[in-house]
Amino acid sequence: RSIPIEMHKVRIVQSTQLPPIRRRLAAIQEAGFNTFLLRTRDVFLDMLTDSGTNAMSDNQLAAMMRADDAYAGSESFYRLTDAVKDIFGFDYVIPAHQGRAAEHLLAKAFVKPGDVVLMNYHFTTSKAHIELAGGKVLEIFTDDALITKSDIPFKGNLDLEKFEAAINTYGAEKIAYVRMEATTNLIGGQPFSLENLRQVKELAAKHKIPLVFDGSLISENAYFIQNREKAFGGRSIKEILKELMQYVDIFYMSGRKSAAVRGGMIATNNKDFYNQILPWLPVYEGFATYGGMSTKEIEAMAVGLREMTEQEVASSGADFIEYFVNQLEEKGVPAVTPAGGLACHVDARRFLPHIAQPQYPAGALAAAIYLVSGIRSMERGTISMDRDAQGNDVMSDLELARLAVPRRVYTMSQLDYAADRIAWLHNHRDLVGGLRFVEEPPVLRFFFGRLQPV
Ligand code: F0G
Repeated sequence: RSIPIEMHKVRIVQSTQLPPIRRRLAAIQEAGFNTFLLRTRDVFLDMLTDSGTNAMSDNQLAAMMRADDAYAGSESFYRLTDAVKDIFGFDYVIPAHQGRAAEHLLAKAFVKPGDVVLMNYHFTTSKAHIELAGGKVLEIFTDDALITKSDIPFKGNLDLEKFEAAINTYGAEKIAYVRMEATTNLIGGQPFSLENLRQVKELAAKHKIPLVFDGSLISENAYFIQNREKAFGGRSIKEILKELMQYVDIFYMSGRKSAAVRGGMIATNNKDFYNQILPWLPVYEGFATYGGMSTKEIEAMAVGLREMTEQEVASSGADFIEYFVNQLEEKGVPAVTPAGGLACHVDARRFLPHIAQPQYPAGALAAAIYLVSGIRSMERGTISMDRDAQGNDVMSDLELARLAVPRRVYTMSQLDYAADRIAWLHNHRDLVGGLRFVEEPPVLRFFFGRLQPV
């Protein structure tokens, strides 16, 4: 089995602690069995997300010191646009405070009531913004995308026949855009292939449908293309990124993942699109040259974007995740395979077959993992779906407890600890029961909702 080797040195550390089991029990009760509501003082390994939690580099921190704090025309912004041009080839850059702000602006500019947005899979915030603008999300993933135990390399591919069928059903003019998410967050960080993107673009262009690319984990998707797609095996991450971008009309990303900084942006070469979005930027985010980010973050983003194109950086998260998934598989714990781009995802339906979906197996598993290990994971299942217009639960396609592996933060021995505790829980899975809501917000309920054991 391959062992990932870190191509970096750790020079600043942050201590953590493992609270005793009694405190963990009290903490998860106080948190309403929702891991979002835990305080980090009660958390040993924080695997809630890789968003804004990746280790920053010395060069990113150094760049922050030279930030040009101007409301308008900041040189920091132009260093960001230079990086975007060099890496992706885009001329127009719209900074935003994070990914969901970019999604808000895109929905505001391009989604009209009654429109449909096609995608390989939804993300919680992207769906919320499209629906708030009066649009509808249609997921057109391939039939094998939801098989959690699999060796299919590109479960994030968009299904071209379903794309064609959607054009026939809705008419191209009703399709605001087709969105490709790299990598599909909610179904296990699964990538799409370059060939799939090329074909999606071909069909989209034929019908004048813009292709929107969510590049929040773009360097990971590029790394998977390098590893899994024969035609691109010998290419560098930089070359693959350029190759990908030639098919993209509008690019956006959360800067908090691949780019390892708290921020986000939209980029394009289409001046009309740019002009449609730009007027809304100062309304919701900030002036054109900062868009809700601090200039320090803009500087760190410019450096983070360049660094994510390095082989050692693009591979660092994915290789650790693969190691983690292999550890779990060896111990008989059902994890999503192939290993994906942001986390190790444990399949709660296979882990807890005795908990029915309306009792939220993924939420129950996330709470139980915390209790037995002090590790904070995230529910990615039915709790992460909001109710329909009639007030009924919408069953999620998958029930996953997501253990994110922030890049260059945790060590292999910490991953071994995690695998050991989760395997222990798997051997004692009958101890785990289901959950029900006791407090439930109307939108994105998973953030603040509180639950109790049924
Ligand atoms: N798109 C994808 C694919 C994401 O994974 C995220 C965030 C966003 C958009 C929104 O970006 O957080 O900067 O506003 N994912 C985080 C996560 C929250 O934990 O997976 P944001």
